[in-house]
Amino acid sequence: MCGIVGAIAERDVTPILLEGLRRLEYRGYDSAGLAVLDSKHHLQRARKPGKVAMLEQALSASPIHGTVGIAHTRWATHGEPTESNAHPHICNQTVAVVHNGIIENHDTLREQQRAKGYTFTSDTDTETIVHEIYENHINKGLDLLAAVQATVKGLHGAYALGVISKQDPQRLITARMGSPLVIGVGIGEYFIASDVAALLPVTRRFIFLEEGDVADLTRQSLRIFDRTGKQVEREIKESELSADAVELGQYRHYMQKEIFEQPRAIADTLEGRIVNDQVIEQSFGHQASEIFEQIKEVRIIACGTSYHAGLIASYWFESLADIPCRVEVASEFRYRQPHLRKNTLVVTISQSGETADTLAALKEAKASGNVHSLAVCNVAESSLTRESDLILLTRAGPEIGVASTKGFTTQLTALLLLVLVLGRRHGISAKREKELVHHLEQVAAKVEKVLEMDESIRLLSEQFGDKEHALFLGRGTMYPVAMEGALKLKEISYIHAEAYPAGELKHGPLALVDSEMPIIAVAPNNELLEKLKSNLQEVRARGGKLFVFADGEAGFKSEVDVTVLDVESINDVIAPIIFSIPLQLLSYHVAVIKGTDVDKPRNLAKAVTVE
Ligand code: G6P
Repeated sequence: MCGIVGAIAERDVTPILLEGLRRLEYRGYDSAGLAVLDSKHHLQRARKPGKVAMLEQALSASPIHGTVGIAHTRWATHGEPTESNAHPHICNQTVAVVHNGIIENHDTLREQQRAKGYTFTSDTDTETIVHEIYENHINKGLDLLAAVQATVKGLHGAYALGVISKQDPQRLITARMGSPLVIGVGIGEYFIASDVAALLPVTRRFIFLEEGDVADLTRQSLRIFDRTGKQVEREIKESELSADAVELGQYRHYMQKEIFEQPRAIADTLEGRIVNDQVIEQSFGHQASEIFEQIKEVRIIACGTSYHAGLIASYWFESLADIPCRVEVASEFRYRQPHLRKNTLVVTISQSGETADTLAALKEAKASGNVHSLAVCNVAESSLTRESDLILLTRAGPEIGVASTKGFTTQLTALLLLVLVLGRRHGISAKREKELVHHLEQVAAKVEKVLEMDESIRLLSEQFGDKEHALFLGRGTMYPVAMEGALKLKEISYIHAEAYPAGELKHGPLALVDSEMPIIAVAPNNELLEKLKSNLQEVRARGGKLFVFADGEAGFKSEVDVTVLDVESINDVIAPIIFSIPLQLLSYHVAVIKGTDVDKPRNLAKAVTVE
């Protein structure tokens, strides 16, 4: 999704803006641009479709410098990814704007502005904002801050904005509603960005703007106004992330790095949250005990990979903790007038904490008045954590690869902690909790061991390079694991992949099975094993090529058309975390063979901050 960087300083800000854009590349985008006010206070702009590297090339051919500037990576929504649609958008060579989010009333604004004779140079909703600021407000005598404040009052939808003007060259104005925006605090300089990662080389001190805030930055001063226009103070927070937390290091791709970071990320997610073989309830927030006491059922809401984590957790909630649990895709939940019973815990799961549908679904759920909310999230200062009663942070560290890996397994780890604390009140005995905690504490080491399969999976992946379709099968918690495996493969290798509960095979997908269709099965050693084996026989009888990731003790043997990869033998409860790892490695290696852009797959974004 789109990214914003901005800076006001004594030094030349162009290199800061470019480095910030590079650091936001992981979010997914299809054009990039920047605008600065030069020493004569003229607006200078450069924009390019494609990668930030293209913009850099253009800038080394004709450099622009300035001490105030804004920059943007655009993920096309309104209008194609062309130069004229790329941000910043400029009105009358005077005001420049970068914008994340979607302005829902842009059609109305555009009609009104056309009627007044304004001309448009792009198809974007953003251009209506810059016309509104300049033509409708500055031209009528307002200064830049007042013009932005007046403009945002008339915007419906989501926005994070960076605005500069040649008439007010010592200022950078920023505003947010529904899209994330942080202010970076330097010494005699300020920065803005849609994500702290963009600014880590220049500061570790951040202010997180709240919904409806507008901020006025000069080199020496910062004023923030809330949605009512009242000047407010917002706390400065120190980020614990270091600039190299987002460096690639020895790895070829971020996804690969993140797959291998999982043992550490899982251990960090558990750290300090278990004492004397019990999960500490306060890890979820100071109101946790009071809220958990009332909970009778759980509703999980999420998107993408996080939704798959929710599906696995729903098996755990019902089978381990005896708590009714339902899981929904956020974009469905938010529009279907759901019925939520009193004493439901609404659990949102999100790596980024900024997914528009998940945020909107949470708002819907809260509006019903009956519920308590808990966010499982990887970003401490995200919109989702701010909106939730309770929070359990996954401690995966920044996840850059668009396809989530360590985000997913740390979500599962965190969700299992939640199952245990809630389950305590619904029949999980101290003895059973101790047993499960013991298994959880072994997960990091087991993941380390499973990562040793890397080379054998790389070799296996060679058989997938020419495939167009793949089918993933699992039963029980392994069904959502199979769904996640299929999602990973389709996201980054562009192979069409589907997941089915193995028992459903006969009800349709069997018709697709032939020697060209690889079938990947996930087979832990549990009570469903024999049933899964029968399902796999059905595949073999139809000439399908089977690839089985099986518990070493499940009794599978490689033979003609059946390739078996032994996975560490483990307890059934934690099996979903462990079995996800080889599937991640498989899709990674297949994507490398196919030569796709592994970390930034086409058409996808890391954080989907628009609907
Ligand atoms: C996008 C990402 C996925 C992610 C999903 C939900 O589709 O590409 O990797 O699972 O959004 O994101 P969230 O940040 O809410 O977990």
